[in-house]
Formats: sequence, structure tokens, C-alpha cells
Amino acid sequence: MAHDESAQGLLKESSTRRSRSSDRGDNAAFDSDSDLDATDYIDREAARPTRRSPTASFEPNTKGKKRWCSCLFTTLGRRSRCCIGVLAGMGILWVLLTATGVLVYRKAQEEPPYGQSPPWYPTPKGGIAASWADSYAKASKMVSKMTLAEKVNVTTGTGWEMGLAVGTNAPAIHVGFPQLQLQDGPLGIRFADNITAFPAGITVGATWNRQLMYARGKAHAIEARQKGINVLLGPCVGPLGRMPAGGRNWEGFGADPYLQGIAGAETVKGIQSEGVMATIKHFVANEQEHFRQPWEWGLPHAISSNIDDRTLHELYAWPFGDAVKAGVASVMCSYNQVNNSYACGNSKLLNGILKDELGFQGFVMSDWLAQHSGVGTALAGLDMTMPGDGLGWADGKSLWGPELSRAVLNGSVPLERLNDMVTRIVAAWYQLGQDDEKKFPRKQPNFSSWTDEEKGVMSPGSPTEQEQVVVNQFVNVQANHSVIAREVAAEGTVLLKNEDLLPISRQGLSDERLRARRDAVERATGKRSEGKFKVGIFGEDAGPGNGPNACKDRGCNQGTLGSGWGSGAVEFPYLVSPVEALRKQFDKSKVELSEFLDNKASFGKGDGSLNDLELCIVFANADAGEGFTRWADVSGDRPDLRLQNNGDDLIVKVASSCGGGTGDVIVVIHAVGPVLVEDWIDTPNVKALLFANLPGQESGNALAEILFGDTNPSGHLPFTIGRTLEDYGAGGKVLYLPNGVVPQQDFREGLYIDYRHFDKYNIEPRFEFGFGLSYTTFKFDNIVVIPQRRKTPYPLRRPNPAAEPPSYSNDIPSKEEAIFPPEIRRLEKYVYPYLDSTDDIEVGQYPYPDGYDQQPPLSEAGGDEGGNPDLWSNYVVVNVDVINDGPVAGAAVPQLYLQYPETESETDFPIRVLRGFDKVYLKPGEKKTVKFNLTRRDLSYWDVVAQNWVMVTEGPYEFSVGLSSRDLSISGTW
Ligand code: BGC
Repeated sequence: MAHDESAQGLLKESSTRRSRSSDRGDNAAFDSDSDLDATDYIDREAARPTRRSPTASFEPNTKGKKRWCSCLFTTLGRRSRCCIGVLAGMGILWVLLTATGVLVYRKAQEEPPYGQSPPWYPTPKGGIAASWADSYAKASKMVSKMTLAEKVNVTTGTGWEMGLAVGTNAPAIHVGFPQLQLQDGPLGIRFADNITAFPAGITVGATWNRQLMYARGKAHAIEARQKGINVLLGPCVGPLGRMPAGGRNWEGFGADPYLQGIAGAETVKGIQSEGVMATIKHFVANEQEHFRQPWEWGLPHAISSNIDDRTLHELYAWPFGDAVKAGVASVMCSYNQVNNSYACGNSKLLNGILKDELGFQGFVMSDWLAQHSGVGTALAGLDMTMPGDGLGWADGKSLWGPELSRAVLNGSVPLERLNDMVTRIVAAWYQLGQDDEKKFPRKQPNFSSWTDEEKGVMSPGSPTEQEQVVVNQFVNVQANHSVIAREVAAEGTVLLKNEDLLPISRQGLSDERLRARRDAVERATGKRSEGKFKVGIFGEDAGPGNGPNACKDRGCNQGTLGSGWGSGAVEFPYLVSPVEALRKQFDKSKVELSEFLDNKASFGKGDGSLNDLELCIVFANADAGEGFTRWADVSGDRPDLRLQNNGDDLIVKVASSCGGGTGDVIVVIHAVGPVLVEDWIDTPNVKALLFANLPGQESGNALAEILFGDTNPSGHLPFTIGRTLEDYGAGGKVLYLPNGVVPQQDFREGLYIDYRHFDKYNIEPRFEFGFGLSYTTFKFDNIVVIPQRRKTPYPLRRPNPAAEPPSYSNDIPSKEEAIFPPEIRRLEKYVYPYLDSTDDIEVGQYPYPDGYDQQPPLSEAGGDEGGNPDLWSNYVVVNVDVINDGPVAGAAVPQLYLQYPETESETDFPIRVLRGFDKVYLKPGEKKTVKFNLTRRDLSYWDVVAQNWVMVTEGPYEFSVGLSSRDLSISGTW
């Protein structure tokens, strides 16, 4: 069964509601969200300062917004009537939604679709892995000297815009632990000057090149360090891409857990090789932007992603396992709920899966405002809250900070837990060598996230008057990283169609090809073109538009598309547009270039204006991003998979008009994910299609390399391009309208997303997962399967811990340690660890969440960093020869897909799953042997009854190797 709904198979929900009363300590400030009424919250939301757009309405499309606006601009009488109407409408909608919500909630209580997440307490302590033992030993010495306030400082952000980076905690000055500077994001240093805008994750995924994944991570970290950043908020491996229109899929590496896992781990290794802490995010199942967090969409609660246990393990948590194995310092928990318990307060996820089963040794940080309870999240395994504010942006009312001090003093958060939180953070700092002051001088970042001016204040989030100081030093950290950016962009460009057209030359076509072409056109039309080769470049996406940074956080689609929008975007230092590169590189003595850099397509079939053109290169795109920004009808998630800004129409018109229909057409697409190409892909003169993903600052240069054949395309699709959105199945659809006050999204398709769904239901995609053409051809030969170990169903026993977590005194510290020191000059709204008075604090017995006292058995899948080490042992090796049997040099991407043995049992398996890939550069005629190592985890499935990874021991495994998920020319068995 792929979608196991049996009692054991379900990750049972721990309903926040049900456990809320028991989750809280004695103080109201620790309550998650119960005491807050909607108006109160919306007011705070509206007060949210710059760089985030308040989005208090959940109106999903602009049509509604337009009606609302036009209504406001009518005459006074009409306006009031209209507004009363709108308010009444909203009221009715609200009542309906609440009623539906209550019904859905009641129903869920009676008959929970996915049961309840079992409680998993207490939090496993960090410090069990040999690889971290030294760092824990050092951390333990430091933490044992910290006061209560210092410990709280380390765990709690100082508030939104209270430091120069997007997140800062506070130092433990007396013991020498500095304030940490945390900055987005996955493709470059957000809000910074003089940095590199690397290609986005999805482009990196499309390279299928491990070395480039690592190199981009390393270059990114060099820039972070030189800008004064300790912790990078990336890479992103969640969303995984369940829904092709999901708004943030582009921040990750593609719709397959194996590809995400390798790309995520290589990026982590690259980043951490420079001593910068990487953050793998967002844990877990934040698959869509709609309703991802409370109030952003008008609802009081975030969406719940309801996932069965097997799917969680084999798809969504899988890449996090790779990152943990790679030694990642930090994991960011996500905004959404999982099985009706907020991800940052879900003990099964954080304590059980992440810290016990995966043996994570670093610290769990909340996404920005993803924390919804104080004591509850501490007990559930959260170690650091960001940005530190409470339930609203910049409200300064932290759920931790002073409240954590109070909770430790009154006994509702065991000191043992606080010690573990702090130890994990300090150990991560030592583990990355950040105690080396030469590499990490204890200084503020040399840029401010909040102003472009040289001078500003250190805590602009506070209304308290502050001294103006130099906050931007404009340090250039780019070095030669544009080379890596360009390589990734070029290797991440996927050639999807090529009918004997590409590559072209800088002279257009060789004399011989040009003559042949002109002869053919003359025969067909009676007219002969003379002189220079005539090329037209079409589309707004080819040009600079209003500049790459025209919209805040890149939150609009104009000009050429280099990245998606949101916290995962950066300020482009420059963006080489395609037209700029092509203008420069075409040989003007041979080529005459015409430019049509808008999407109006104001030329029509038969009007003759394009009759002279012999080659038309047409650009179109599709954009999306994080849910706090909306553009046109794209509210974070795309409303559909169509090209935007009239792109399809433009391509159709160019194809019909180019050379009066005789011109050759090359389509270039920049996109955040799959787009539908059905309107024009079979048009005979559309001879080539290049899918350039999101190329970053080197866009035009990388594209020119491919078009002119300096680089042979070697990108392959990191997702499936279907013929319709429906082809992706019911699970492929974003939930655009809430189905209750707590929107519920059941991941009923289980393991069957993207190609697994297309394969299971035998749906012909337009371009399958893993597909990509080259200017040469490759073939495979000589597959050899070499067993390394014997097949056994279960991994070896969980090993005993290699090290002992530090132990400290558990005596509740003196209340004095939490009293506000009189000498501190307080900034309004800044989050401090201190209390004005501790007189009302009494140590008592506090109701803990259900199951708190029953330690569940430790997972047999755990035992070390990354889990049970045997899961990472190689059980079989597959060797295959790959040969370049075409005319030019190029890089092949051999991919290995595994088919599980057919068994008598009821276990259902996808037809095939990716379990290996490589990138090999081959000269014409050259042959190389590619080696795939398959680990026990690669060969196992998650058995929901055994609660362990299980290998199938009856029947043969089949390994098929080829150039895409549907072009598998050679196979072997084990
Ligand atoms: C995003 C995170 C990001 C954080 C800090 C949140 O809105 O979801 O990915 O790291 O903001 O900017």
C-alpha cells in the first residue's frame, strides 16, 4: 500500500487545539494563539514595517481586487452603498467559512483523516555523534558558565529589523559567545550590495552536476562570510514540488526527493566548507503559499498538510535526511501545520523524526513567525525562535525572550531543555570553526538589510531614537563568482526540442547552410532573400525591462526573468539580458538584428512586417514567489501553468509571421517551473525550444554560449512538463480557496507526485522528468551489477551513542539572573531576555502535553547523525559504460532508476524511482564507466508497521540506466 491509512501507517495529528491547553505554561504570554482575536492581529499586521507587504486579505485573484478598487472610486453615495455591500458580503463569507471550519474541524475530531501525530517527548539531547563530540565538549564548557539571561539570548531573536541582518539573536557576552547574523537566502545574499545573484535552486537541479552544486554553495558562503554573516538561510529542499504551480518550488532543486537530497547536501557541504552555517529549509511540507501562515491570507490558522507516514519518509523528509548526514548546522521548521500541528511545535516531527530518527545534532530554528506557542514549541524541539517577535511582525512581544526566562524560573520549561537548545547552537558554532576570530571577526555585518544609505540606525525596527552610524560599507565580495554563476546557468539550460537548427553561429548560419536555406525558401515562395542573415528577437523576456530590481523583492514579472520573488531573491548587481548578449555577440557584418522587446505582438499574420526575417528568437516566461507578495493574478502560487504576459500568443504570432511563416523559430523560456507548451510546440517552424529556468545575473551570456554552441547543452528537466495541469493528478493542484478555518490539504496521492504519477497512470508527458537534449548523442553499454553486502530486510541494530550529551546542573537558577539590569538603555520593541519583576513567579506543576511522560522507544532507524549508519552503507554498485557516439564533445547525464522487486506482500511501489545520477564529459567517440553506489536507504521503503526502513529480500531489484525517466536503454538486476 502506498497510501497507508492503517492505524500504524498514519502520522497521527497532534491537534494544536486539543493540546493547546496542555501545551501552555501558566502564563498567558505563552499561549499559542488562543487569546488573540482577529482584529487585534490584523492591526498588528498592518503595522508591519518595510520590506514586507501586508497582505491581510485572502482574496485570491486580482479580478476581485479590481472590483473593490473601482467601487472605492465611484461617487460617495455609490461608494458607501458599495462598501456596505462588500462588508456585508465579507461578513457572510466569514460566517460561512467559520461555520464550514467548525464543521470540518468537528468532523476531523470525530474521524481525523490522518489520525493524530503521536506525541514524542522529551527532546533528544544533542551530542551523541562522534563527528560532533569535540564541538559539544567545547560548547558544554561555555554553556555551563552562562547565566539564564545569556542562555535565553542565544535562543531568541532580537526582533524584526532589530539588527542589520534579517535575523539576529543576542550574545552571551561574558562567556564570549557573539551575536549570530542570519541572512537569506538560497541564491545569494539578500538585501546586500556587491554580491552575486546566482541562478536559483531549480536551475542548479537542472544541471545534475554535483561539482557545480558544491561550487555554488562554496562561493555563496565566501560572500556571506565576507559580508559578516554566520548563518545562511538556505538551501531550500521544501517545497519539494508536489504541485507544479507551487510558488516557491524554484527555490529548491526539483520534484524528486533523491535529486533534492543530493543537491541539498552538496550545497550544504559547499557552504559549510567555508565555515558558514547552512540552514536546510523548510521542514516540512510547505508545498504551497496559499494559507501557509496565519492571517497572511485572512484566516487565523495556517494550512495543514496531512501526510501519511510512509510518504513523509520517502518523499518530503528524505532530502532533509541527506542534509543532516552532510552535517548541516541548522534546520528551519516551516510555517504550515503537518497533520494539524504547527511544524515548529510538532514534537513527532522535531523530536521524533529530526532529532531521534535522523540524529540531527545542530539546532532547529523557526521560520519567521512560524512559532505559535512558547512552552509548547520548546518542549516539541524548537531551539531558536526567529525573528524573535511573538505572533505579529515587529510587535516585540516574544513568545520566548523574557517569557522563556519566566518559564524556566517557574519550572514549565525544564532547564535541561533550555541547556540543550543553547548547547546545540553553541556546538554548531564551534563545529563550523566560527570561534576563529580571524575568519569570523566579532563584528556586525558590513551591510544593512534595511537601507541602501551609508548611514542608518542599528535597530530600525525600534521607534526609540538612535544614533546614525555607518551601516553600509559597500564591500565587494563578488570575486570571480560570475564564472560559477554562468556555468550553472549554462548547464542548467535544457534543450527540449531541436530540429536540426541549433547551434547557430555568430554569423547566423554557415555559408553553406544559409545558401541551402535560401534555395529552399525560394523554391517554396518564389522569393529569394539576399544580403545579411536577418534575425528578429522578440519578447519582453529578452530585454532589460525597467531593470532587474524594479520591484521590491523581485515581486513582479517585467523584463527578462532571472529569479522568482520573495525572501529567496536578491538585489541583482547586474543582469545580462539575452538581447544585450546577442547584440554584442552576433557578427554585425553578417547578421542584421531587429528587436521587438514587448509582448504586444502588434504584428499580425499577413501584415508583412516580419516577412524578411529568416530566424526569430522568441522569449517568454512564467514567474511566482513567496506568498507575501502578489503580482497580477499570481498570489505566490501560480494560478495555472501558462506562460505569462501573453507569452503563448506572442510565440504563436511570431511563428506564423516570421518570414511569412517560412522563418525558423527558436523559443526560449525562463520559468519558475513547468509551463504548458501545447499551443505551439508542434508548429513546424518552431524548430527549437530552450528551457533556461532561472539563470541569475549571467542570463544572456549563458544563453549565448548554448545558442552558439560554445557549450553543448547538458541540462535535464528536474520536473515533468505535462500537457495539462490535470495530467499531474488531483494532488498536483494548489488549494486556492480555503476549505475551512484551518484549510486541510490531504496528500492523498501519497508517493505519486510528478513522474511517479505520470508513470503509474500511464500518462504521456510532453517532456518527461530527466529529459534534455544535447548537440551530440550518447549510448550505454556493459551494465555490471556488483553486490557489496547481503540483502537483509532490516538495517543493523541501532548503535549505542558514540558520545554522551553534556550534562549540567538542573537546579532552577536564581530569579536575579532574569531581572532587567538597570544600566541597560532599553529600545522599545527590542526583545530582551529580562523581566521587570519576578515577584509573581512560583515554581509549580504545569500541565504538559499528552504523552509527555511516556518516552517513546528510540527509533531503530536512528543512532547517529543522519540516522542508523547502516542506512548509508553501500549494498550494491552498478557500473555502466557511457559513450559519446555523436559528432561533438558534450556532457551526458546518466540516470539510474530503481524498480522494486515484485512481492507477494501488499506493499505498493512506484514504477520507478531515481536513485543515482552523474554528469560525464565525453569527447566524440570517448567512453567512460559511470559508477552508481546504492545505499540501504536507496533500496528500502519505509515500513509503517515496523517503523523502519525495509529492504525487499524476495525477487530481484531492477536498475535501469538512461538519459531520462522514460529513455532507459540498459538495465541489470540484483
Ligand atoms: C521565509 C524564509 C526566510 C525568512 C527570513 C520567511 O518568510 O519563508 O524562507 O528565510 O522569511 O527572511
